[in-house]
Amino acid sequence: MIDWSQKLSPIVQSLKPSGIREFFDIVATRKDCISLGVGEPDFVTPQIVIDHSIQALRDGYTHYTGNSGLLSLRKEIANYLAREYDLHYNPEKEIIITVGVSQAVDLALRALVSAADPVGRRPDAPAAGVLYSEPCYVSYVPMIRLAGGVPQKTVATPENDFSLTAADIRSELDSENAQSKILFLNYPSNPTGASIGKAALTEIAALAHERNLIVISDEIYGELSYEEKHIPFATLPGMRERTLHLGGFSKAFAMTGWRIGYACGNENLIRAMTKIHQYSMLCAPTLGQIAAETALKYAIGERDKMRDEYRLRRDLIVRGFNAMGLPCFNPQGAFYVFPDIRKTGMNSMQFAQELLAAQNVAVVPGDAFGDSGEGFIRCSYATARKEIEHALAKIAKFVAGKI
Ligand SMILES: Cc1ncc(COP(=O)(O)O)c(C=O)c1O
Repeated sequence: MIDWSQKLSPIVQSLKPSGIREFFDIVATRKDCISLGVGEPDFVTPQIVIDHSIQALRDGYTHYTGNSGLLSLRKEIANYLAREYDLHYNPEKEIIITVGVSQAVDLALRALVSAADPVGRRPDAPAAGVLYSEPCYVSYVPMIRLAGGVPQKTVATPENDFSLTAADIRSELDSENAQSKILFLNYPSNPTGASIGKAALTEIAALAHERNLIVISDEIYGELSYEEKHIPFATLPGMRERTLHLGGFSKAFAMTGWRIGYACGNENLIRAMTKIHQYSMLCAPTLGQIAAETALKYAIGERDKMRDEYRLRRDLIVRGFNAMGLPCFNPQGAFYVFPDIRKTGMNSMQFAQELLAAQNVAVVPGDAFGDSGEGFIRCSYATARKEIEHALAKIAKFVAGKI
């Protein structure tokens, strides 16, 4: 008999399976359950994108593309970022198309962590630290660890509506075990929906410069910003050269299944990422790339319509939670709210389980996004307004007996 514990990678064995998997396995078996759990748009991909993609298949676009992705798509992304944010990249050297933002994160970490950890380093030399902020997207810590990095966390606090500050980052960089050379940002954030305002971003940028940090900025929800226009980190003074800007199509264009994202940054970093990509992935899906190009050319109006609808839903759900007595700040972006359930006296998993049992409504326990998410739940409003109203009424009923 093979002893797999001796065969499998120790890092992989040490990763905990996602804490919410079991819970959502149960949710999947329940009839008529309203789920505010999923992190993906309920909208289908814009019709024009679907139509062009079907035609592309008929026209024979069934082969590999170059490793960096279709040049026509990279050019379209460069135009898009220039138009939207006055952010400029050379499509030939500074952009790579990836399999979702997920793969862009993986490539970036592998490229940078190995750069910070030269082959043959002394066994006692510090490994590459990656500073990230909690509560955070469930994949970050496992991906940092799989890349051989050491996750170092800072916490965005509820007192500041979960918006990260330079002071949060500085105190972590100055802590005893600090070893981070890479700063990982995500705003608007999954799971809180919090963004970072211009003043705080400017201070974070100054800190990144002072400490010579490389910044990986996951801005997949950038287009889903409701009050203020999104500010890419790379547009802050001096940040373009030290920032890897990550964007994608899954959220703003309702294209999760097409699996397309992109990374833009310094050509040395993009070249390093392309090397890993060419050996591990060859290229992002060709059909997805064609779909993404079509989206940028012809579906900006659809993108804006979906964003406007999300905004109405956000207003509805924030109002609903506050009215039932669960404090909920008004998140500026993404499609999540993060209401505070501490008044109920339950922990977040207990709240989610009991709510499911009593009212057949599924929400995600906040501690799935790190310990600092305890006392909160994540609710996605990528669900029709009628469903949200229905869910809110049921949650209010559940909560009424508890606070
Ligand atoms: C913050 C964040 N980054 C990245 C991803 C992955 O996106 P993609 O579908 O582009 O791989 C998600 C998906 O939920 C996310 O929430």
